[in-house]
Amino acid sequence: MQFIIEETYEDVSRAAADIIAEQIQSKPAAVLGLATGSTPIGTYEELVAKFKRGEVSFKDITTFNLDEYAGLNGDHDQSYRWFMNHHLFDNVDIDKVRTHVPSGNSDDPEKMCEDYEKAIEEAGGVDLQLLGLGHNGHIGFNEPCDEFPVATHYVELTQSTIEANSRLFNSIDEVPTAAYTMGIGTIMKAKKVLLLATGEGKAEIVKKAFKGEVTPQVPASILQSHPDCTIILDKEAASQL
Ligand code: GLP
Repeated sequence: MQFIIEETYEDVSRAAADIIAEQIQSKPAAVLGLATGSTPIGTYEELVAKFKRGEVSFKDITTFNLDEYAGLNGDHDQSYRWFMNHHLFDNVDIDKVRTHVPSGNSDDPEKMCEDYEKAIEEAGGVDLQLLGLGHNGHIGFNEPCDEFPVATHYVELTQSTIEANSRLFNSIDEVPTAAYTMGIGTIMKAKKVLLLATGEGKAEIVKKAFKGEVTPQVPASILQSHPDCTIILDKEAASQL
């Protein structure tokens, strides 16, 4: 695991965008695994700026997002499909047909999850997976549990995640209580992983996940055994390392 410690959130975003742009430049038809949450917003802004300056093109890129809320349609403004369209896909030259987000409203969720795994494999696997970090150590929506989940699956969200994410909804009652997420196995198959964490609020979980025991109770801790994982932190998030 490689740590990059930057001064500010903006520096973290620039460093992450540089790594993603290098990936695209070295393989213009790369498969990117993408994340939502507040943390990667600055990275997407930087990538859009690079696209507008002509430094990077997404025209042959394929993407797979980590997760989606169960019960939200892609046109709901809190759905992760909407988030991705708004922050990245609508602002670059990507072909939307090659952008994938698990469906929050499938009639057959089990098949949807199986098909999602197959589609990742058929695309050649994820070259670079971008991740944020939940306060309880979740990655995607892989919540603390007894065994690392292998593949894309349905998950009930913990109360702490529902509370953390309620800041983005009008009221906590509107926050979906379940989601579909790539499994830990799916994430670990990515050739390269890039995790971002910023702010003092993440300092304790950063220490627990990356300097503590590897356990499904802290899902991100599994990344300690990934062969090519880079963690980019700002000074606050790195303060307890
Ligand atoms: C959500 C997402 C995660 C994200 C996490 C942290 O639960 N499913 O992928 O990493 O929130 O979000 P933030 O970056 O806003 O702290």
